[in-house]
Amino acid sequence: MKVAIIGAGNMGGAIAAGLAKGKLVQSSDIICTARTQATLDKIKAIDPDIVTTNDNAFATKEADIVILAVKPWLMEEVIADLREHIDPFKQIFVSVAAGITLEELGGWISPSSPSYATVFRAIPNTAAAVLESMTFIASTNADEDQIKMVCDIFDEMGTTMYVEERLIPAGTALASCGIAFAMRYIRAASEGGVEIGFRPEEARKIVEYTVKGAAELLLASGNNPEVEIDKVTTAGGITIKGLNEMEHEGFTSAVIKGLKACL
Ligand SMILES: NC(=O)c1ccc[n+]([C@@H]2O[C@H](COP(=O)([O-])OP(=O)(O)OC[C@H]3O[C@@H](n4cnc5c(N)ncnc54)[C@H](OP(=O)(O)O)[C@@H]3O)[C@@H](O)[C@H]2O)c1
Repeated sequence: MKVAIIGAGNMGGAIAAGLAKGKLVQSSDIICTARTQATLDKIKAIDPDIVTTNDNAFATKEADIVILAVKPWLMEEVIADLREHIDPFKQIFVSVAAGITLEELGGWISPSSPSYATVFRAIPNTAAAVLESMTFIASTNADEDQIKMVCDIFDEMGTTMYVEERLIPAGTALASCGIAFAMRYIRAASEGGVEIGFRPEEARKIVEYTVKGAAELLLASGNNPEVEIDKVTTAGGITIKGLNEMEHEGFTSAVIKGLKACL
């Protein structure tokens, strides 16, 4: 399987890195494009076997899957330039651009028959860079095998959830904006850690590992967070005092309000 990544910047580069490390696609079957040599050099530094070029048409011609990872405002123009080199009936197109719908993509890829092109939207988050992305996938005109193939590709960069397109904005709020929310908790707890006696770098490390451990515990056990919270809240103890104080200040409500503001 040959994969073209058009616009191998931060996100496209992370996808290339994930694919090159994974088992699904050989590095020599990944072809990445960008405008500048500096960006292409970064891709070569990830894996010298990845093919790099600034010729989008050349990259796309032989590809089974074309991953479109340019900025949203460049997408229509980049697709228009590619149109005579692509086969909407054979190739699979995957856009990672935020805010561009499957309908728009289908119309740009195959203006004469937009409802035939197999098009996916994939919304990874920045943890793709460390292969821990939470990625949402939606598609149009894709069969079960094609959906599995695209989910498998993005599973190389973390974990994926296949959803109806209407849920993509909510998924973006929860996982892409959510990364920033989790970071803000880490910052807040680190500042508290300094106030109660640790040096800043120590406090941050403690909080980072605590948050990582909390997520790993839940992922490994499948437990509801309250089950794990019950394990550490002794009656009349210090943990429940701290938790209740945070709730008095509106912790849960603030998180829900923040999420809803992202939609
Ligand atoms: N970053 C994220 O966390 C994230 C998450 C989800 C979705 N996304 C989506 O991912 C897409 C890319 O975002 P990004 O943050 O990765 O941006 P980025 O780092 O600027 O990457 C975009 C890349 O596109 C290349 N490019 C521009 N015009 C091109 C053209 N005509 N042909 C080929 N390549 C071209 C640029 O090349 P040069 O570097 O050489 O200029 C650049 O490397 C966006 O649509 C965004 O919505 C990003």
